[in-house]
Amino acid sequence: MSREIKLMLNGNQIFVAIEDNWTLLYLLREKLGLTGVKEGCGQGECGACTVIVDGLAVNSCIYFAVEVDGKDVLTIEGLAAADGTLHPLQKSFVENGGIQCGFCTPGMILSAKALLDENPQATEADIKQALAGNLCRCTGYVQIVESVEAVVDKSSEDINVVVRETGESG
Ligand code: FES
Ligand code: FES
Repeated sequence: MSREIKLMLNGNQIFVAIEDNWTLLYLLREKLGLTGVKEGCGQGECGACTVIVDGLAVNSCIYFAVEVDGKDVLTIEGLAAADGTLHPLQKSFVENGGIQCGFCTPGMILSAKALLDENPQATEADIKQALAGNLCRCTGYVQIVESVEAVVDKSSEDINVVVRETGESG
C-alpha cells in the first residue's frame, strides 16, 4: 500500500510517498539520493546503513520507512554545518586516521554522534560498546576509537584534576 509520510530529514521537513514494504535505507538511498547511507549486509549486522532517528542510531536496512513518519532523521549528509564546516567528529576522523576506504565511516560517525549526544563524557569502553555494531574491514578499529575519544568532552576530567590537585596541595 502507498501512503505519504512527513519527516524532518537533515533539518528540512519533507513529505514523501512511500510503499509500506520499503526500508528506510531504500527510501534514503534510492528515492532521496542520500548515498552517504551505505548498504552493506542488508541484514542489520554491519552498521554501514546507520542513521539517527529521534536521537537513536538505527540500522536503516531493517527499519521500515513508514516508521519514520513524524520523526527526525539525520544522515551523514546533514552533519556538516550549512557553510560546509565539518562536524567535529568528521574532522577528527580525518585527522586521526579513522577513515581508510570510507565505506563504514558514515555509520561509524553517526553511531558515535548518537553516543556523544547522550553521553558527552563517554569512556573508551562506552565508545567501543556504542560502535560494536559497526564493522570496519580496513582500520582495525584503533584509529576509529581514537577519533571519537578526541572529541569527548574533557571538561569534567579537567575539573576532577583541579579538585584532586587542590586536595593534594592542601
Ligand atoms: Fe544495514 Fe548492514 S547494511 S546493518
Ligand atoms: Fe574501510 Fe572502515 S574504512 S570499512
